[in-house]
Amino acid sequence: MSDKPFAESCVQNRDPILTVLREVFADCSQVLEIGSGTGQHAVYFGAELPHLRWQTADVPPHHPGIRQWLDEAALPNVLPPITLDVSQAGWRSGRYDAVFSANTLHIMSWPEVEYFFEGVGEVLEPDGVLAVYGPFNYGGAFTSESNARFDAWLKARDPASGVRDFEALDALALAQGLILHQDIAMPANNRILVWRRTG
Ligand SMILES: C[S@@+](CC[C@H](N)C(=O)[O-])C[C@H]1O[C@@H](n2cnc3c(N)ncnc32)[C@H](O)[C@@H]1O
Repeated sequence: MSDKPFAESCVQNRDPILTVLREVFADCSQVLEIGSGTGQHAVYFGAELPHLRWQTADVPPHHPGIRQWLDEAALPNVLPPITLDVSQAGWRSGRYDAVFSANTLHIMSWPEVEYFFEGVGEVLEPDGVLAVYGPFNYGGAFTSESNARFDAWLKARDPASGVRDFEALDALALAQGLILHQDIAMPANNRILVWRRTG
């Protein structure tokens, strides 16, 4: 019996996310996934989008689980995880024309969110695309009761975490030359924010 790590949320959200990535990564070839987690998204998107070379990445404790999913899927275009802690500079030497990250910005502290955008600014090629999935606030307000409850749950666990304000994220992106291209509603009060670097 497989003892791979498993997140039910990935099964729930993967098809709506795939529909967006199919369009916004259509002309991309090298994707960095920040915070691959279990590895489920990587093998699903890697199989469905074979034109992409999908680089998994996370902090080392997640690597064995990601490797289990990758070993089982044996996809030539999905690469073993690199060590990536946004607050460490090591990952900034890579070059990608797309970056994807799901459910990470509300886990990271705000300084880590700032490092995330600084690092993406360094690794993303001109005309590159950044797609970020998760819950976000607008105008300083939650978009649903469930997101408010989720934020309270996150903060009880780690006071530095929490659902982020779209406007604050967009300002960090803009500082890296990333212009908001799309803000797409997803099921369960989530969104995908898509920024493009403008050459
Ligand atoms: C809630 S999980 C999401 C995992 C996966 N992307 C998904 O959607 O199921 C949050 C992920 O963010 C990663 N993460 C948290 N802090 C990080 C940091 N400072 N640098 C890189 N990744 C981080 C965690 O290791 C974890 O994989």
